[in-house]
Amino acid sequence: MTTSQRRSSGSGHRVPAYEYHAPVLVEQAMSYLIERDGLYLDGTVGGGGHAEAILARCARCRVLAVDRDREALDAARDRLSSGADRVAFARMSFREAPRHPLVREEKLAGALLDLGVSSHQLDHRRRGFTFRRGARLDMRMDQSSPLSAADFLADATREELVRVLREGQAPRPAALAARIVRRRGSRPLATSDDLVAVLEAVLRRRAGHAEKARLFQALRIGVNDEIGALTDGLPAIRDALRPGGVLVVISYHSVEDAIVKRAFRDWSDPSHGLPPRLPVRAADLEPLGRVLTKKPVTAPPGETEVNRRARPARLRAWRKAA
Ligand SMILES: C[S@@+](CC[C@H](N)C(=O)[O-])C[C@H]1O[C@@H](n2cnc3c(N)ncnc32)[C@H](O)[C@@H]1O
Repeated sequence: MTTSQRRSSGSGHRVPAYEYHAPVLVEQAMSYLIERDGLYLDGTVGGGGHAEAILARCARCRVLAVDRDREALDAARDRLSSGADRVAFARMSFREAPRHPLVREEKLAGALLDLGVSSHQLDHRRRGFTFRRGARLDMRMDQSSPLSAADFLADATREELVRVLREGQAPRPAALAARIVRRRGSRPLATSDDLVAVLEAVLRRRAGHAEKARLFQALRIGVNDEIGALTDGLPAIRDALRPGGVLVVISYHSVEDAIVKRAFRDWSDPSHGLPPRLPVRAADLEPLGRVLTKKPVTAPPGETEVNRRARPARLRAWRKAA
């Protein structure tokens, strides 16, 4: 462990990068992503595992390392310290990364989005993502955001609650939303125990691990507007790629994977973006690029055995036309 890994940051919670998060599908992501020298966007740098692999595989590549989470950027700075002259860090959402000065100056050779949350975020009770007992309902990836999960549960309309719970595939979304509204009328939902109690009241039995995980995941996706970031971010990053540049996305939730799949398919359709009924033949048009992964790439058993968070991972890659 280096001194910087032991040192405490301003936030007081710096942890060694190797404990922060074990990156998933690294070899597979690199095999699609790295083809040429240039500037790469890691839009979800987390503990820096994928960014480290980019720097290691390509001596003349540079990385714009982006995350919404201050603790992630601290961990990534430590992990990437030996290649610091080739990395720039930015605390922002990847949906804004195409407007970063480096990207305005130079189109991207490639971009990687490894969606969702890191092990660090999930495992630390104080970050409030977990359904383990006694956790404050926080769930903010960006610690400066004003809206915690508890605030969302207190303020959202019943319709918003249903939409977020349904979109994130929580069990019994309408009944859950109704129960949340009823419960907050007498006492706010502040902790993981409060939310699990609501779920168990709806189910009328003890909730299983998978049911709790789906509820907490749906709430997290809503609180952080993860679907909005992905929907806006994908085309913005595509436009920031240089010709021949590759976009790789790893998702962990079927809703996210469906968005990525549809976007890549639409962009590979020659008539993409044209209003219907124009007097042009598809054969005369050029697609924006092509899908590199016919099927999503999943983690091999060797990886899922040692890292259970790799199990739901789905990797898709797309190349912009040259
Ligand atoms: C699965 S982890 C990434 C792990 C990383 N690839 C590594 O090697 O350690 C996901 C990270 O993405 C970040 N994140 C999620 N949505 C984001 C967004 N819209 N913009 C920027 N960062 C985001 C989270 O804060 C988290 O640190």
